[in-house]
Amino acid sequence: MDPQDVDGDLETILLSEEEIQRRLAEMAADIEKDYEGKDLLVLGVLKGAVMVMADLTRHLSRHVEQDWMAVSSYGSGTRSSGVVRIIKDLDTDITDRHVLVVEDIIDTGLTLSWLVSNLRSRGPASVEICTLLRKPEAAKTSVKVNYVGFDIPNSFVVGYGLDFNEKYRNLRVVATLAPHVYA
Ligand code: PRP
Repeated sequence: MDPQDVDGDLETILLSEEEIQRRLAEMAADIEKDYEGKDLLVLGVLKGAVMVMADLTRHLSRHVEQDWMAVSSYGSGTRSSGVVRIIKDLDTDITDRHVLVVEDIIDTGLTLSWLVSNLRSRGPASVEICTLLRKPEAAKTSVKVNYVGFDIPNSFVVGYGLDFNEKYRNLRVVATLAPHVYA
């Protein structure tokens, strides 16, 4: 879906398709360098990370394995609480594996902080994090994020995997929603 397909719903386009792809290619180059000579398991967190996973891994000129987890954060409204439930666990045993978690966005950082400690308890060789977007509050959490695509302002964004009521995930750009859509 292009911005003109949902004309009027979007307030500001923060990232164009080209900007997203250019940055993902740079991140992939960094990842290739950092994991040279090592097996890599890329873990996508459903559902938002689907687009990032698809494009980031295709920018990699090497083999990687891909697996998925689905987690649900208990909380009121749109804020995470940090209490997380696993909806779908990994199919892969990550003992002694290098794991790279791929996220679309880190907001409060609570989901990731829980996920990383859950993964670390499984005895992996390493757990690192890659996210396309990061909001200001996330920078305050203790979780170290190795690869950040873009730091964005603290407004509600949709597109490129990110939804509002399960819609807009298939929008090619990242944009803020016009208030009339969610008000
Ligand atoms: C989003 C995003 C992260 C989480 C970040 O997922 O993909 O997993 O929220 O929020 P936090 O940093 O405040 O914890 P969401 O729960 O919206 O599920 P979805 O990916 O299926 O849309």
